[in-house]
Amino acid sequence: MITMQYATEIVDERGHGVTARLAVRDVSKYFGGVHALKGVSLEVDAGEVLGLVGDNGAGKSTLLKILAGASQPSEGVIQLDGEVVEFASPRAAKEAGISTVYQDLALTSQGDVVSNFFLGREIISDSWLGRKFGWLNTKAMAQHTRKELERLGTRIPNVRLATRELSGGQRQALAIARAAAWTSKVLLLDEPTSALGVRQQAEVLDLIKRVRDEGIAVIFISHQMQDVMSVCDRAVVLRLGSVVKTLQKDELTSENLVGYITGAKFEAEFAPEGGK
Ligand SMILES: Nc1ncnc2c1ncn2[C@@H]1O[C@H](COP(=O)(O)OP(=O)(O)O)[C@@H](O)[C@H]1O
Ligand SMILES: [Mg+2]
Repeated sequence: MITMQYATEIVDERGHGVTARLAVRDVSKYFGGVHALKGVSLEVDAGEVLGLVGDNGAGKSTLLKILAGASQPSEGVIQLDGEVVEFASPRAAKEAGISTVYQDLALTSQGDVVSNFFLGREIISDSWLGRKFGWLNTKAMAQHTRKELERLGTRIPNVRLATRELSGGQRQALAIARAAAWTSKVLLLDEPTSALGVRQQAEVLDLIKRVRDEGIAVIFISHQMQDVMSVCDRAVVLRLGSVVKTLQKDELTSENLVGYITGAKFEAEFAPEGGK
C-alpha cells in the first residue's frame, strides 16, 4: 500500500520514496512583471486525484497550462515517471500521456458523439478502398465510442446524437471521457463542473472517480469546495503563485480549504510579512 506521509513526497509503507507519476519541481512563471508562479512544487501519483485550489489569480490555470504543454515554465522542471519532460506544444504533452479538459468545452458543435470522441484520431477503414481514400470506418468508431463511454459509466443514450443535442452535463462528461480514454497517464481538469447543474456535477464527479480508479493521475481545479472534498485525495492550496498548504484527505474540510485559500489560516513559514 502507498501512503502519503509528507506533503510533497509519496512514500510506501516502509517509508521508501516512490516515483510520482507527475512531479512539478520549483516551477516559476513570469508574464512580464507578473510573477504568476513562484517556485511551485507538487506531486501526483497514479490513481490519485490532487485538488488544486486558490483564489482568482492564484496561478492555478497557469500551472495547468504548463503541464498541458500550452505554456512553458520560466524556471523549474516537470517530471513524468521520474523523467524530466519538456512540452513544446499541447500535442507533445498529449503524446506523453497527458490530456486536458478546460472549462470551456473542447467539443465542436459540429457532428455527433462519435466524431467528437475521435476528433483528429479517426480509424481509417481497413479495406483497400478505405486505405486508398482514407475512408473512415464509422462502424468500428461507433462501437469503440460506445464501449469507452460504457466502461466509464457515462450516461449518453446514443452515440449517433449530435453533440448540440446533449445536455451540458453530457457534453462535459463526453469531453472528460474522451480525454480519459485517450490518455494513459495524467488527466488535467480546469474547473470542469463550474458550468453544470447539481445533478450533472455529481455525474462528472463520479466519472472523475472512475478515471482515478483506472490508475490515471488526476489534477482537479475547482472553486467548489464540496466537489474538492468529494473527489480529491489531497489538495494543494495556491496563493499569489505559491503553494501555501497541502491538505491531506482527513484535513479536507471547508474550514481548512477556505482558511488557507483566503489567508485566514497560514503555515508559520508563510506568515504575512511584518506581522500584518
Ligand atoms: N497570458 C498571460 N499574460 C499575462 N498575465 C497572465 C497571463 N496568464 C495569467 N496571467 C496572470 O497570472 C496570474 C495567475 O493567473 P491564473 O493562472 O489564470 O490564475 P487562476 O487560474 O488561479 O485564477 C494572474 O495575475 C493573471 O493575471
Ligand atoms: Mg483559472
